[in-house]
Amino acid sequence: MLAIENVRAAYGPSEALHGVDLSVAEGEVVCLVGRNGVGKTSTMRAIVQEQIRVTQGDVRFDGHSLLGLPSHEVVHRGVGYVPEDRRVFASLTVEENLRVPLPSRAAKSRRWTVDSVYALFPQLGEYRHRMAGVLSGGEQQMLSIARSLLTNPRLLLLDEPHEGLAPKVVLEIIEAIKALKKEGVSMLISEQSVRTIQECADRVFVIDRGRTVFAGTPAEFAGDPEITRKYLMVAEYHA
Ligand SMILES: Nc1ncnc2c1ncn2[C@@H]1O[C@H](COP(=O)(O)OP(=O)(O)OP(=O)(O)O)[C@@H](O)[C@H]1O
Ligand SMILES: [Mg+2]
Repeated sequence: MLAIENVRAAYGPSEALHGVDLSVAEGEVVCLVGRNGVGKTSTMRAIVQEQIRVTQGDVRFDGHSLLGLPSHEVVHRGVGYVPEDRRVFASLTVEENLRVPLPSRAAKSRRWTVDSVYALFPQLGEYRHRMAGVLSGGEQQMLSIARSLLTNPRLLLLDEPHEGLAPKVVLEIIEAIKALKKEGVSMLISEQSVRTIQECADRVFVIDRGRTVFAGTPAEFAGDPEITRKYLMVAEYHA
């Protein structure tokens, strides 16, 4: 479904990705692992054609290159993106956030609605009239995922969805990821939590300093202490 082949990408003159290879098959959940600053966010931006410019290699979705497309066209093709800063409208209510028109894909099968995202995240339904700015970090993350679902993505990119969240909320997000997987949404998740990798991932890719350095199953990843020691945040590995 998604194939990133030998991608180099740069912010202006400054190259951040020096050879990234990665793929996501239909229905798969793929975790993208790597320490701070190695290029996880940049990889996602290279997929959605935001901020960074791909200078070599290709990013293909359903066999077609995404390079050079405007970001709304990438969404239109079926790629949803939940950035690490979450981007909710703080001074709008939850419901208003969900009613802001977005580019979307004309879905043949599953079509997300405001009601079906409330069914996935009941808390959002409960707080529908609250300002998004007063929600907790976890609730804002759910709102951001919900907004992205309303574009009817086939592939959802989640950039560090657990960043800064309490353990209980992390578990709620993991449950939502599992529910989305059952609905047939493929996902690429940049991740440091071993729990998510073990519970949700079909495959794991590791990036180090702008390059793919490992690709394998969660079992191969967890079974390689050299890899986990080198590329996972130690504190989080033992959490
Ligand atoms: N907008 C930008 N302009 C210039 N350089 C950038 C920009 N965003 C990121 N970089 C650089 O690109 C490299 C990769 O950063 P990136 O944010 O992709 O890493 P990351 O793996 O997502 O890190 P983190 O775990 O901290 O989120 C870093 O050297 C960073 O300084
Ligand atoms: Mg990042």
